[in-house]
Amino acid sequence: MNLNKSGAILKFPKNFLWGASSSAYQIEGGNINDWSEWEKKRANKQAREGGSAYHKPSDPELQRKAKNPLNYICGRACDGYNRYEEDFDIAKSLNHNAHRFSIEWSRVEPEEGKFNKKEIEHYKKVVQALHKRGIEPLVTLWHYTNPLWFTRAGGWAGKGSVDKFLRYSERIVTELKDDVKYWITENEPETVARNSYILGARPPQKKSVIKGFRVLGALVEAHNRAYDLIHEIDGEAKVGCSESLVYFESYNNWPHNLLAKKILEYWRNEKFFPRIIEHSDFLGLQYYFHSCVRINPFKSWKGFQYNENKKLSDMGWEIYPEGIYYILKSLKKYNLPIIITENGIADYKDGYRADFIKDHLIWTHRAIEEGVKVKGYFYWSFLDNFEWDSGFWPRFGLVEVDYKSFERKIRPSAWIYAKICKNNALRITN
Ligand code: BGC
Repeated sequence: MNLNKSGAILKFPKNFLWGASSSAYQIEGGNINDWSEWEKKRANKQAREGGSAYHKPSDPELQRKAKNPLNYICGRACDGYNRYEEDFDIAKSLNHNAHRFSIEWSRVEPEEGKFNKKEIEHYKKVVQALHKRGIEPLVTLWHYTNPLWFTRAGGWAGKGSVDKFLRYSERIVTELKDDVKYWITENEPETVARNSYILGARPPQKKSVIKGFRVLGALVEAHNRAYDLIHEIDGEAKVGCSESLVYFESYNNWPHNLLAKKILEYWRNEKFFPRIIEHSDFLGLQYYFHSCVRINPFKSWKGFQYNENKKLSDMGWEIYPEGIYYILKSLKKYNLPIIITENGIADYKDGYRADFIKDHLIWTHRAIEEGVKVKGYFYWSFLDNFEWDSGFWPRFGLVEVDYKSFERKIRPSAWIYAKICKNNALRITN
């Protein structure tokens, strides 16, 4: 499909939310939860293998980092817990008018039913620090990590998991409601059901399809009930849930590839949103890649993907901006506002990031012109951070972090994005 001509200026809707995302565990440091316990048991093995089950870097400099067991221990992360004022000053200097972050459940409820007031106060200060700088907070209640007591009781597959999450949500929303309008109940429930249970690759590593379905069911119920609860506490709140969707194509018209594409599309893109649509004020879209499906019985599961674009991120993910347009168009049927809550690239040399952002925004703009109600864009991630089972080597940040001194350094691409945020518009250049 042809895009707009060079020199054209693409204007974004009024009051568009511009910012970046983060999550508590990945930046704060000092958290003790199911991930912190799991990674300790895995670090040496992953270092020996030079990466996680799915991601092994090909760049020699990154390979060296991926062989260090310390790469896989989150520890102090970016020390974001203590440096949020400094970080929000940076966000302001980059013209962000919104910021997405998450609350760490294990901090505020370290023991079942016992809330830590000091930690709740901390998060109040965080949202107030954003407001002080004219930045709108988007708060995620649950971004993958669970308190240890919750995990011991079976986690999301255990009895009463939804009620436990609601008790926590009720407390947080009641405390923060005066300063928070946008709530994201959960981050990528499907990813968790798939990676942690169906594929059994992430904590709690309970490989079971039945559990995977049970967990997804619990997360659907948790979202729907949290939606009602948040609205009872604050009738004005805007509540949504974030999912990662993939743009699938079939390699050719052979029936088995077409069928595989349909099944994958159903599972990744259609399984969750329809079940929460009646309980959503907006949809949170996270878009990272495209997948050209070609089943090859002589290869491993990796043979599903036959992407031909040779531009890859440091994680080996294909750069395919056009996909965001097709995904946005596919969400039009729900007739809900959409916030792009994550879109980003691991690119430690910062060679691709500026074009990555611009190209995804150009395609987003095309979808807006065709009637999709996109209300905001959040780059993933604000800071370099702890990339789950891959650890620290992938660098997604607009802002580079030195993990020894915790010094922040704004990357050149961040300034290009800052200009777009400031102008609420993008000029196409070639
Ligand atoms: C998750 C982030 C993660 C990012 C890059 C998203 O699916 O929400 O926590 O860091 O992808 O892998």
